Amino acid sequence: MSNTDRLNTLLEEDRTFEPPESFKAQANFNDPSVYERAANDPEGYWAEQAEYLSWFKPYSEVLNWNPPHAEWFVDGKLNAAYNCVDRHREGPNKNKAAIIWEGEQGNSQIFTYDMLGREVDKAAHMLKQLGVNKGDRVAIYLPMIPELPISMLACAKIGAIHSVVFAAYSAKALNDRITDTEAKLLITSDGSRRSGKILPLKDNADKAVKDTTVETTLVINNIGPDANTAWNKALDVDWGTLKQKMPTTPLEHEEMDAEDPLFILYTSGTTGKPKGIVHTTGGYLTGVNHSVRSIFDLKDEDVFWCTADIGWVTGHSYSVYGPLSAGGTSVMYEGGPAYPERDRFWDIVEKYGVTIFYTAPTSIRTFMKWGHEYVEKHDLSSLRLLGTVGEPINPEAWMWYHKYVGGEKCPIVDTWWQTENGSAMIAPLPGITTTKPGSATKPAPGIIADIFDGEGNPVEPGNGGYLVIKQPWPSMLRTVWGDDQRFKDSYFGDYDGIYTSGDVAHKDKDGYIWILGRDDDVINVSGHRLGASELESAIVSHDAVAEAAVIGRSDDIKGEAITAFVTLKERAQSSDELHDEIVAQIVDQIGKIARPDEVIFTASLPKTSSAKIMRRLLRDIAEGKAVGDTSTLEDPSVVEDLKEKYAEAE
Ligand code: WT7
Repeated sequence: MSNTDRLNTLLEEDRTFEPPESFKAQANFNDPSVYERAANDPEGYWAEQAEYLSWFKPYSEVLNWNPPHAEWFVDGKLNAAYNCVDRHREGPNKNKAAIIWEGEQGNSQIFTYDMLGREVDKAAHMLKQLGVNKGDRVAIYLPMIPELPISMLACAKIGAIHSVVFAAYSAKALNDRITDTEAKLLITSDGSRRSGKILPLKDNADKAVKDTTVETTLVINNIGPDANTAWNKALDVDWGTLKQKMPTTPLEHEEMDAEDPLFILYTSGTTGKPKGIVHTTGGYLTGVNHSVRSIFDLKDEDVFWCTADIGWVTGHSYSVYGPLSAGGTSVMYEGGPAYPERDRFWDIVEKYGVTIFYTAPTSIRTFMKWGHEYVEKHDLSSLRLLGTVGEPINPEAWMWYHKYVGGEKCPIVDTWWQTENGSAMIAPLPGITTTKPGSATKPAPGIIADIFDGEGNPVEPGNGGYLVIKQPWPSMLRTVWGDDQRFKDSYFGDYDGIYTSGDVAHKDKDGYIWILGRDDDVINVSGHRLGASELESAIVSHDAVAEAAVIGRSDDIKGEAITAFVTLKERAQSSDELHDEIVAQIVDQIGKIARPDEVIFTASLPKTSSAKIMRRLLRDIAEGKAVGDTSTLEDPSVVEDLKEKYAEAE
């Protein structure tokens, strides 16, 4: 769906849902005046929120804003692992479940805060033993096993900066990220289980560490002999063996400055290589902690399940740092949603009594396609709040989620945010906000966002434009790792001191925000951002290829599907083999998530007279629509040729 089509569909949406009285009555946030209070004094509001963390040393100033550089909680000292683990061991939550882990085979492991603390201490001792110190970078390439959050928290405990790389990324993608952060250590596992198959993580890791700064690969035995792992004595250390040798004594927390980096996480941009988004200790933790208490209404009795992989920011913030900083119980699952049957998620909700469930629209649409009978096989009465994230949710999927998963009693929080934002930005407060299916509603308290027209003026209700954030917020990115200029240009290049999200959105007559999608060449596949330029570089590195243009065309399930238009060098001939080689090249260089749905060979690509590829036009062709304005096209005959090629390929 193009942005205009999406807008027309959404504008016909006039259903509204009030928070149920019973929900309102118990909600952490149920006084509507919070919005005004936060808007009148954002710094005062955030200072209040920072009080929910434990500080070793109080800060002297809430915000030092030197646009586009923000320092939050200046001079304050704290430690993220202390806030997420050890402080809960000192109180009534000591023996409460922190992490409930379920494996694909139905095996499970529960870590209380006290147990988690001992695991984190052992892992932190291991990091120290391997020469990792404060400020060093540690790359983590792990499946959804308990050692993933344990490794992250161990880094946080000693002040090392983690850079988690999604386990389905390729060796090349991992190598790029290791190279950019100059990581000293890589933590990986022999393999991962997914939908009954074993994925060879260690093989990828071995390829990825070649010619990098990595001095040691710490390997977790997750699969065992079936993984058939090759062992490199010079580099590899076995996690289990080393762990046994570690002292049982706790390790002191490194006292981190509020502004010390906590982690780097890579995300795709419009141009060039992925950007290493840098998040800090005090601001990030304040942001995620505030959002679990407000938007997710997290309480002591809750069981919170965010289904995202921890390799994405959603998992960082809502499987690890958010719920744990608030002493919550977080569920994690290593496996596929249809394994062994299509009711696996509902089986997990029932088994552990999940109360808050957070997933992506692409998953909801898949569940819808499978049919509600899978949901109805289970008792989901424990659920009290649902959430979505990653892409706009179509009102029909919202209604289905509300009816079949939420039993018409759970508020739905549609949360808009980005890797760069750290925590949810535009989202309802479930005890206060009236929701509208398909709208992320309004900025959260303390977030000053708006929609601007091309001139930088806020649009009147009933209009659309560019979604911007007008004032700094604690969990904002601080820079792009190693490239501050890119940080300035990418996010603060359009308006002075104002953050540009890259999304276009519409403001309705009630001031509600409807996100329409990206305004740039970033493709959103199943809620994950991929840069068109990264995919194009992967294709062009094939020596038969002359040029490539990649676009996202609307797809009912995935949100966007990838279509690649490719022109070949003169000596090369298009063939099925070449098609497969190009697909393999993308999977090899980026990962399975980037596998194109179509590769179309064409004699030429549509370009403007200034030689820019007109991706908009390619999108129209792929979506079978009337092709828009072609007046700036250098050679208009290209369009007919492309349409033919596209029809043949389908
Ligand atoms: C992009 C950010 C941190 C969330 C996971 C993805 C899109 C995200 C929504 C939503 C409409 C959404 C935006 C944004 N997006 N949430 N609720 N409604 N669109 O993180 O990979 O950094 O992608 O996802 O286009 O810019 P990400």
